[in-house]
Amino acid sequence: MSRTERTQVGIVGAGPAGLVLAHLLHLQGIDSVVLEARGREYVEGRIRAGVLEHGTVELLDEMGVAGRLREQGLPHHGFELQFGGARHRIDLSGLTGRHITVYGQQEVVRDLIAARLATGRPLVFEAEDVSLHELESESPRVRYRHRGAEVELVCDVVAGCDGHHGTCRDSIPDGVLSVFARDYPFGWLGILAEVAPSSEELIYCWSERGFALHSMRTPRLTRLYLQCAHDEEIEAWPDDRIWEELHARLDLDGWTLGEGPIVEKGVTGMRSFVVEPMQHGRLFLAGDAAHIVPPTGAKGLNLAVADVRVLAAALGAWYREGDTAPLAAYSETALRRVWRAEHFSWWMTTMLHRPPGGDVFDAKLQLSQLAYVASSRAAATSLAENYVGFEPDPA
Ligand code: APR
Ligand code: PHB
Repeated sequence: MSRTERTQVGIVGAGPAGLVLAHLLHLQGIDSVVLEARGREYVEGRIRAGVLEHGTVELLDEMGVAGRLREQGLPHHGFELQFGGARHRIDLSGLTGRHITVYGQQEVVRDLIAARLATGRPLVFEAEDVSLHELESESPRVRYRHRGAEVELVCDVVAGCDGHHGTCRDSIPDGVLSVFARDYPFGWLGILAEVAPSSEELIYCWSERGFALHSMRTPRLTRLYLQCAHDEEIEAWPDDRIWEELHARLDLDGWTLGEGPIVEKGVTGMRSFVVEPMQHGRLFLAGDAAHIVPPTGAKGLNLAVADVRVLAAALGAWYREGDTAPLAAYSETALRRVWRAEHFSWWMTTMLHRPPGGDVFDAKLQLSQLAYVASSRAAATSLAENYVGFEPDPA
């Protein structure tokens, strides 16, 4: 069985990028089809990052999808940098007038899926063998299989929102994209534990044993990370060893980390990666499909949302007024913010992680930088304005 369907924007991937784009288009009366390789349960259950920039929350609010986020999200007006046996608060609100909100990415995705389904517009889960065709023509096509049927979706444009391991980026002919990447010689071991957070705020901790991060999801769920080897085997980390190492890095005189049952654990590698340009013909890449950052700056989700905000506005101008300029400038506009976030994420990562084989000179430089950030209002403001989300000049 095969059939042909038609839409204005074919969106591949139902992560934050694809779902926010779909809703922003809907609000402008633009039709789209979202194709997602996985099932709804899998997408809604996948545990990812949890820090939303000020601008991300504002956008979700304007889109009318922030009801639960406003109720359950945890506003954070600062965070702690820990090194040399002490904590130093970075006062985000005091330094920038803005704050961040802790709310799991999968909760954002759940809210966006509900909003999409409520519009009655198509969101296809378990779309198999998605492939892109005729990207350089005026009617690019997305082919996929669903419940045994072969479907050809004829579009005006295609949005590649299918993450770092998706298929859209690879559909661009060889020689078009430049790739800029850096792999880090370490990863993060992350856990989710059923215990109240031991600190009201996030703690980014430098330690001679390696970086650790205390974060949270809800008043009863703590999220914790440890720097580990980039290819660390999770089997080598029974729960007791994880707690022991977390205590060794995070505990201070008079403060100890609370423990609880570990309900999730996993290892992620750390990579910086950008392709340029983020568009080819009628295909526009957004989010992790075009770039990734190491998680230290908490930028991944926010960048994905920032990309599609630019893309949705550009598509709106094109459909409404026939103005092609914003769409032609999409990549250039998005990349300004992407590179700012790439630098910030690299900088936070380099300042806080012990490189394998790192010597005392490395450590002294890191500690000097941390002390500078903790004691200079100018340095702290620079960190804070990037952390809450820096908006580069529009042109
Ligand atoms: N066809 C259809 N869907 C696909 C395909 C494919 N070939 N390949 C991947 N997908 C889906 C994935 O299953 C996923 O649901 O695309 C979606 C991409 O979503 P994300 O990986 O969440 O990427 P993005 O929306 O760009 O959001 C970036 O996610 O990885 C985190 O830290 C990252 O916070 C950042 C955010
Ligand atoms: C998280 O809570 O998952 C988290 C918080 C801050 C980061 C990265 C991840 O920098």
